[in-house]
Amino acid sequence: MVKTSTTQKSQSETSYAPGIASGDSMLSSFFEDELKDIYWAEKNIVKTLPKMKKAATSEKLQQAFEDHLQQTQTHVERLEKAFELMGKKAQAKKCDAMAGIIEEGKGIIEETEKGTATRDVGLILAAQKVEHYEISTYGGLAQLATTLGLNDVADLLKQTLNEEKETDELLTEIAETDVNYEAATEEE
Ligand SMILES: [Fe+2]
Ligand SMILES: [Fe+2]
Repeated sequence: MVKTSTTQKSQSETSYAPGIASGDSMLSSFFEDELKDIYWAEKNIVKTLPKMKKAATSEKLQQAFEDHLQQTQTHVERLEKAFELMGKKAQAKKCDAMAGIIEEGKGIIEETEKGTATRDVGLILAAQKVEHYEISTYGGLAQLATTLGLNDVADLLKQTLNEEKETDELLTEIAETDVNYEAATEEE
């Protein structure tokens, strides 16, 4: 006698269709929580960028900080719009990671001398850590928004994501063309 195994799997239990999570799903509240986190971060970057501009020596770097300050104010507004689209109140929740990165940036200003290219190198390094945190956050959140069927929110997050990427590239360019070489010639 031949034994036959006829285990059947329920297809409906394993299939997953994106864009159907309900507004009160666990994923949806996780997403909302993460929005609060980056909202706190952006609001604090608005407060920090003027200090970084003031500490910078290179005019190109000062201009980059100034321009990104304007963009960051828009990032705050886009997040407020995202909360509104979800029918939620815009709320900030302390982002420990960004608080740490900002703190590190302050340390760089304290440890370096005013008017030196070495300080500018440090400022760029600190600013790029901020941008990379933002890039990973907005990349992930835009993807989640799409999964949740929140396409308008996803569009807003992607607009900000692109600006963070552009800023990161601009900072690399300033480091390579304007600051790093000069810093290498500075003596202690
Ligand atoms: Fe931003
Ligand atoms: Fe940024």
